[in-house]
Amino acid sequence: MSFASARYDFTDKAGDYQRLALELAALLRGERNLIANAANTCALIFEVLPEVNWAGFYFLDGGELVVGPFQGKAACVRIALGRGVCGTAAAERRTLIVPDVHEFAGHIPCDAASRSEIVVPLLSGATLLGVLDVDSPRPGRFDAVDGTGLERLAALFVAASHPAARPPQSG
Ligand code: SME
Repeated sequence: MSFASARYDFTDKAGDYQRLALELAALLRGERNLIANAANTCALIFEVLPEVNWAGFYFLDGGELVVGPFQGKAACVRIALGRGVCGTAAAERRTLIVPDVHEFAGHIPCDAASRSEIVVPLLSGATLLGVLDVDSPRPGRFDAVDGTGLERLAALFVAASHPAARPPQSG
């Protein structure tokens, strides 16, 4: 079984995010384990997206964010809600695109190579589960198309994995 191929060059960015969403849906189909699905989701994102040096999850745990599966350099483990890009996106429950992390007051550096960042909240209905965080060494790497594309991938991950997002069971 193989996932992700050279057909992703992101010259058709919206189209490639659509193809990636189909591929992620196939990758997650039939598996509900949150950690397994988080690991495969960030592996696919890290493999496919150009100019990315970190991609992974922070999950809400006891009122703060705790690092989950990721690809990239070892990262800070706990982030308080409202702190850094991740904690701010989580607290405000909205996608944050930071063109230059050096300009973001309170940015938490994990990999010194990171220059821009996008953080998407993971929501199951009104419940905040955590965030999906992607970093790039290039300033201004992420735009609104990345925002929409990554929000779609995050929604697929939540729908596939989170108990509260499961369809009602019959019988
Ligand atoms: N830069 C993030 C911390 C997580 S790392 O980038 C992996 C932040 O400011 O919240």
